[in-house]
Amino acid sequence: MRKIAFYDAKPYDRVWFDAHAPEYGFEMKYLENRLTADTAVLSAGCDAAVAFVNDTVDAAALQGLFDGGIRMLAMRCAGYNNIDFKAAYGKIHIARVPAYSPYAVAEHAMALLLTLNRKTHRAYIRTRDFNFSLNGLTGFDLHGKTVGVVGTGKIGRVFIDICRGFGMNVIAYDPYPAQDASIGYVSLEELWAQADVISLHCPLTRDTRHMVNAASLAQMKNGVVLLNTSRGALIDSEALLEAIKTKKVGGAALDVYEEESEVFFEDFSNTIIADDVLSRLISMPNVIVTSHQAFLTNEALENIALTTLENLRQYFDGDEMKNEICYQCQKKGTCDRSVTKRCF
Ligand code: NAI
Repeated sequence: MRKIAFYDAKPYDRVWFDAHAPEYGFEMKYLENRLTADTAVLSAGCDAAVAFVNDTVDAAALQGLFDGGIRMLAMRCAGYNNIDFKAAYGKIHIARVPAYSPYAVAEHAMALLLTLNRKTHRAYIRTRDFNFSLNGLTGFDLHGKTVGVVGTGKIGRVFIDICRGFGMNVIAYDPYPAQDASIGYVSLEELWAQADVISLHCPLTRDTRHMVNAASLAQMKNGVVLLNTSRGALIDSEALLEAIKTKKVGGAALDVYEEESEVFFEDFSNTIIADDVLSRLISMPNVIVTSHQAFLTNEALENIALTTLENLRQYFDGDEMKNEICYQCQKKGTCDRSVTKRCF
């Protein structure tokens, strides 16, 4: 049996990897630690490693994995902004799970919008305490409101369909528009200015980092509602906090946060959190923070496990690695994959 080191293992991950790994002839070595330069050594002697969004896949961690004999790292996530691809190139193959359930993330975005708007989270707490007052729980009809969707890839398009079901007017921005005449594309400036609700569904890149900042917030409607289920650093958190204090922003729902790797996925309920911006945001009545859980459905988790195991199988069997990525993939003609079926 091939042994696979599995970093940052949580009970909900293990369910689906335990169910399917034996079919592939893999034995999972579950590690509670995140992958860092210090913990890379824990995979020594294994045949491959599996990591996740908030693992630190920097040059030092990659070198540690390489020194321990690892030549294949399977990311069990779609995003890959935490990886030093240049350091990995030529040493460790890296594959990811490009899609597992756009529905999971888009449905969570709508759940956040409905909760934020209709304040069901506060009503739930009140009625448990036999407080049946409605004061402060007023929302607005989503029907007829304009939602601005930034990024119309797999998740953004499912979110658009959901919003249409609620009778919302949809406008969208994407530098690579989908071939779908029914999506009303506008410029980013128009989207900021026209939308009552803005939902971010684009990747984190150099271009998109802090796309929501003091300048773009100033262009938005007073009382705008912001949803971020993509990557935390799309939003300048300090600028958002300021805009909430001045009531420019009427509500924000964040499933991701730019400094989330310090805290998300762990229990800090007995700890004083050092991040003042996060603490202040969470203290606001019109802010909801969830801990990067948009992907957390059974369907998504099973798809993640199956694709990750298949990525590992392709590597071990010498097959084409369909989901491999490297820093050259983006640059046309510089990645070997189209010829050799592998990035290097
Ligand atoms: P996708 O690759 O299908 O779509 C991304 C879209 O963003 C593409 O259409 C692309 O053209 C567009 N885009 C690129 N640069 C842009 C820019 N500067 N401005 C606006 N749009 C731009 O990706 P998918 O599957 O829809 O995922 C979207 C994001 O959701 C991912 O990048 C990831 O960060 C996040 N995500 C979050 C999860 C969670 O649990 N919270 C789970 C899965 C993904």
